[in-house]
Amino acid sequence: MPKRTDIKKQSWKPGNILSPVPVVLVSCGGTRGWKPNLITIAWTGNVCSDPPLLSISVRPERYSYDIIETTREFVVNVPSLGQAKAVDWCGVVSGRSEDKFAGAGLTPAAALKVQCPIVLECPLNIECRVRESLKLGSHTMFVAEVVAVQVSSALIDASGRLVLEKGGLLAFAHGQYFALGRCLGRFGFSVQKSKKRTRPPIRVKTAGRVLKKKS
Ligand SMILES: Cc1cc2nc3c(=O)[nH]c(=O)nc-3n(C[C@H](O)[C@H](O)[C@H](O)COP(=O)(O)O)c2cc1C
Repeated sequence: MPKRTDIKKQSWKPGNILSPVPVVLVSCGGTRGWKPNLITIAWTGNVCSDPPLLSISVRPERYSYDIIETTREFVVNVPSLGQAKAVDWCGVVSGRSEDKFAGAGLTPAAALKVQCPIVLECPLNIECRVRESLKLGSHTMFVAEVVAVQVSSALIDASGRLVLEKGGLLAFAHGQYFALGRCLGRFGFSVQKSKKRTRPPIRVKTAGRVLKKKS
């Protein structure tokens, strides 16, 4: 192994340092006597492809916790940059005292398979039914099956691909929100053979006239 002395490291105490992570608006309630509510969640992720499962980790003291624990369903609404302020607001106020849909200016709309509403403005709505709740300590992890998905038509291109980046991708890292930037390549780009580059003709400007030169 080559010896490198130019990269120095510090030892930090173990903690939830993993970043960046997605940040989502989870909608719940609207059934069994619960009013519809929203909670901002950064601790979420895909956990299994078949069956499609994802997880969200929620502190038991959250108002949304009891809603999800009793109704066993929720929707993960993936926001775009336009909802960044709403994402933050829904993460600092509680549904115990606020109607968060109204306060954030977001529209509740019907889900396909679950009783709680989706957030219409969010480009991607992932409807989930809880399979397991794991009491891990400060947080309970709800592992849930994806039972339906809704995608905003405006973000589907002519070939049927979801271009989520068109709405602006949002991420969270160490207490700050970030707008994700440039796309670096598709899955597997590191092993793809580079296509033969056809160089554009060189253009030379002479006395106001543009001459085409062979490349
Ligand atoms: C960026 C951000 C990420 C958050 N992530 C989580 C999380 O993963 N789990 C959690 O329990 N609370 C999380 N919170 C805190 C809750 O969203 C917040 O306590 C919210 O007010 C709870 O709403 P509720 O009482 O209506 O359920 C986060 C807040 C912010 C701003």
